[in-house]
Amino acid sequence: MIGILGAGNVARALAPALSAAGHDVAIGTRDNLASTAAAAEIVVNALPGAVSVDVLGPLRAELAGKVLVDVANAVEQGPDGFATRLLHANLAQELQRALPDTRVVKALNTVGPASLMAAPGSLATPPSTFLCGDDPVAKKVVAALLADLGWPERSVIDLGGVANAWWPESFVLMVRPLVAALGPVPFALAVAH
Ligand SMILES: NC(=O)c1ccc[n+]([C@@H]2O[C@H](COP(=O)([O-])OP(=O)(O)OC[C@H]3O[C@@H](n4cnc5c(N)ncnc54)[C@H](OP(=O)(O)O)[C@@H]3O)[C@@H](O)[C@H]2O)c1
Repeated sequence: MIGILGAGNVARALAPALSAAGHDVAIGTRDNLASTAAAAEIVVNALPGAVSVDVLGPLRAELAGKVLVDVANAVEQGPDGFATRLLHANLAQELQRALPDTRVVKALNTVGPASLMAAPGSLATPPSTFLCGDDPVAKKVVAALLADLGWPERSVIDLGGVANAWWPESFVLMVRPLVAALGPVPFALAVAH
């Protein structure tokens, strides 16, 4: 079972798409985060990045042995809602330190709007997504989930260990200037190769 912790935009995008691909999915709301984490084999961190370490850290036992797909961005938002500052030098690495028995894999955090996470083919150029994590098997598990969501293998780029997650996490700071340059059109980061 895949447990999505957080019941917002990301959960609304991923839950039906993962279900359609044949997975059992449960969404963890504020009331049932711990039980959802305990019941799942794979867990998605779809909480605000600002609270992720504080909320997930106490779930060490429930998350032990699990793959944690961290899609979160930990940012301070300006009055226009866009990120102005990162709150952690490396959120995924802090989660990995707080959850040493869990295999954290950064993924999908550069992909917005959330609907695009489950419909990567909807733009003329396929977006890229970046994996960072210390466990190669966990990254394979996440790559398989991404394939189920329609991500071509070529668009999934392995950036190495969780220590490298600050690279994709930094992209969120570029969103405001990109919106200023492009206007309110869907766009996503794609690395041509
Ligand atoms: N949306 C995107 O396009 C996008 C793209 C890339 C990455 N991300 C990242 O993905 C994550 C989720 O984004 P989202 O757009 O789905 O966020 P969202 O719509 O704001 O949903 C956040 C969810 O987390 C819950 N939550 C907030 N604080 C909590 C706490 N202290 N304890 C337990 N639950 C709490 C909220 O519950 P309540 O409703 O009860 O407050 C809500 O269900 C964020 O880290 C975001 O940066 C989002």
